[in-house]
Amino acid sequence: MTSDSEGVVVVGGGQAGFSVVSTLRAAGYVGPVTLFADEPHLPYQRPPLSKKAHTEAADLSVSLVPESFYAERDIELRLGDDVVAVDPAARTVRTRGGRSVTYAHLVLATGARNRPLPVPGADLAGVHALRSLDDALAVGRALTTARDVVVVGGGFIGLELAQVARAHGARVTVVELADRLLSRALSAEVEPHVRERHEQAGVRIRTGTSVLALEGSGRVERVVTSDAVLPADLVVYGIGAAPRDELARAAGLAVDDGVLVDEQLRSVSDPRVFAVGDCARHPHPHADGPVRLESVQNATDQGALVGRRLAGQPPARYESLPWFWSDQGAVKLQIAGLRAPSDDVRLCVGDVPERLAAYAFRGGLLAAVETLNWPAEHLAARRLLERRTPVSADDLAGTTLGALARARRAAEVRA
Ligand code: APR
Repeated sequence: MTSDSEGVVVVGGGQAGFSVVSTLRAAGYVGPVTLFADEPHLPYQRPPLSKKAHTEAADLSVSLVPESFYAERDIELRLGDDVVAVDPAARTVRTRGGRSVTYAHLVLATGARNRPLPVPGADLAGVHALRSLDDALAVGRALTTARDVVVVGGGFIGLELAQVARAHGARVTVVELADRLLSRALSAEVEPHVRERHEQAGVRIRTGTSVLALEGSGRVERVVTSDAVLPADLVVYGIGAAPRDELARAAGLAVDDGVLVDEQLRSVSDPRVFAVGDCARHPHPHADGPVRLESVQNATDQGALVGRRLAGQPPARYESLPWFWSDQGAVKLQIAGLRAPSDDVRLCVGDVPERLAAYAFRGGLLAAVETLNWPAEHLAARRLLERRTPVSADDLAGTTLGALARARRAAEVRA
């Protein structure tokens, strides 16, 4: 597998696609490697885009590596060249420009797209989604003059952007459909602490509120919600993402809210096709059923796993511990592990007031940990969960994971 003449074709120039191609070469793969990316930019990091307002110079600052990286490793980088069809029987992909490329193995790293805002007026000027570098540049420009910013969606993207807008001195209102913030990712126990901190930073929050329409003549001027009309000269929405799995679906590969892959990230329909990152739905030892994870950790680790395998290393199962982070102004939220809705969550207030941890127990054992402004406790959680070290609620009574890990190490040294 280390020198097949038809090579590896990777579709998608995000963190996952980059991880595949860079790992292939680092692991000694010598066959052709082609990376197709539909955006015109060099592969870049997405996390910073919602955490600061971008200016034109950001293009270079977020690139994962300079262009020379690809040339030096003989990675064919096809920017702005989207793949429009896959033919698994012929083992070819076809691009919008009509080019056809044959592969020995295909890796789908097509990511996710933002859910569109399903209300009248969503196409007015001054209304932005936030996913791509171009989106971030447009929002960055708009923030230089915006006075009244309405953020639709109180998830990761919305809350990060709300703090960026506050830092620009704008009045900011977050409109969230659910009755609490961050309901997809965060426990109900921690949410009030996040909400309080945003409100203290001057962000107005309206949960349980629907957006009915955006209005204005040519440009957005107000947001009509289920309980108020809010003035707005900038609206940014982040109401969740959906996997870009339509190429796989059209090619006849199994898809169910993501490309269905096995524990080695190989399509359940075709052993020559892999899927990694936001677009893949896969079994995971930390979850009951197949999951689709949207995070840089997942994209990077999955890309590396497939890159190593296609470079000839023994097949391995994907078992990396999932972890997530979101920087929302003064709120640094970190999550280790996958919490299930039925987990028993216990809060632990840190030694300084801004620190908080929530330990989620399943079957009596620690399964996931959420922390606010407490990176050391997050790292301790990752270490313990990665090693599958059993930690019970009794073990953690009156102590922290960091302290527990130190005590256990000291006991091992004594023994
Ligand atoms: N109006 C208001 N809020 C809505 C609506 C709506 N019509 N529809 C959904 N929401 C809310 C959801 O209840 C949720 O709280 O939008 C929020 C979306 O939050 P996330 O699911 O965290 O998605 P988003 O913030 O858009 O992030 C998308 O980017 O950084 C990544 O990890 C992040 O993968 C995630 C992706």
